[in-house]
Amino acid sequence: MAEVTLKNIWKIYPGANGAEHPVVRDVSLEIQPREFVVFVGPSGCGKSTTLRMIAGLEEISRGSIQIGGRLVNDVPPKDRDIAMVFQNYALYPHMSVRDNLGFALKLRGCGKDEIRRRVDAAAGILGIADYLDRKPKALSGGQRQRVALGRAIVRQPSVFLFDEPLSNLDAKMRVQMRSEIVQLHQRLQATMIYVTHDQVEAMTMGQRIVVMSHGVIQQVAPPMEIYDRPANMFVAGFIGTPPMNFLRGRLENEAGAPVFREGGGCVRLALRSAGTDAELPAGEVVLGVRPEHCVPVDRAAGLPGGFTARITAVETVGAETFLTLDTGAAKVVSRTERRADRDMVGRDADFVIDPARVFLFRADDGRRIC
Ligand SMILES: Nc1ncnc2c1ncn2[C@@H]1O[C@H](COP(=O)(O)OP(=O)(O)OP(=O)(O)O)[C@@H](O)[C@H]1O
Ligand SMILES: [Mg+2]
Repeated sequence: MAEVTLKNIWKIYPGANGAEHPVVRDVSLEIQPREFVVFVGPSGCGKSTTLRMIAGLEEISRGSIQIGGRLVNDVPPKDRDIAMVFQNYALYPHMSVRDNLGFALKLRGCGKDEIRRRVDAAAGILGIADYLDRKPKALSGGQRQRVALGRAIVRQPSVFLFDEPLSNLDAKMRVQMRSEIVQLHQRLQATMIYVTHDQVEAMTMGQRIVVMSHGVIQQVAPPMEIYDRPANMFVAGFIGTPPMNFLRGRLENEAGAPVFREGGGCVRLALRSAGTDAELPAGEVVLGVRPEHCVPVDRAAGLPGGFTARITAVETVGAETFLTLDTGAAKVVSRTERRADRDMVGRDADFVIDPARVFLFRADDGRRIC
């Protein structure tokens, strides 16, 4: 139940011609005891490297890591009071599930009775008590993943580290295991750090999400704060499906009210309800709008944020439909509960962007303005 503190962590690989090739850059983060924190970001952004540095499997180039208040930079993995679960669960094929679960304890010289007690307890928690005598090859993917979780649980670590543990499972099993891990967290009251590139896993599992890009932390916040108040265009575009629409344009002042104009004038928008008008910079900006805040209407004329666009694609996913639109100057995705079919492709239709739900970003560095 320990806190984990990262202070100015760097991972630098030697690059060509003696240059430095940093893959984790100046990462600082305080993870509270019993917190469930999810690292999320695109492939190659440094998530696994960061986790492996916490685990002690990767050397730290600069900075310091504390677990439970103890500096662990030079502490070997086995003495860090952590347990790690990987995507590739790597069970010992020749051992029964029971022996797989108890193996680490045996190595540590734990007594037979103690091992049996802890293995039975973990098997009970994970619902694998009936498979204890089977070999891993006689288990389904989901059952094997539970055994891999069980191996971590029996060690009773104060910090659990997960690196994409559900990636090998099919979609349905992933959803089930997701909620099982969340329940496990509530039950064990341990600190958990979970790495994924799947934003849905991040949103549904994390108490706080750490969004990374190119080795740099972009934002650390609870899921809905990340969704409602993304720090920049990267976070805004990464979290949410379909992704947020971005429209490049100019912010102008029209009769005391800020107006967003975009090439071709197809999307005209009064940002009256966007708040801090005084701080709005005039000039080049990027407007962000989530697909669910850009919806079909019967008549756009006269509505602030109303526009007409050509429908270029229709994707129906059951309860809702995603419409890809061509405004003449930009491609925009609309998400609606209205039914639509492919016959609509090629037709013009009316839409409205909810002026109260848009984001404005700086055109130069992508930071959110309002
Ligand atoms: N030994 C190495 N030498 C040089 N660069 C490396 C080395 N090992 C990893 N990298 C680079 O470090 C970066 C971060 O890798 P990391 O495995 O942490 O990414 P990740 O965020 O976990 O991605 P994924 O979602 O694909 O698992 C990558 O660009 C990778 O190419
Ligand atoms: Mg990885």
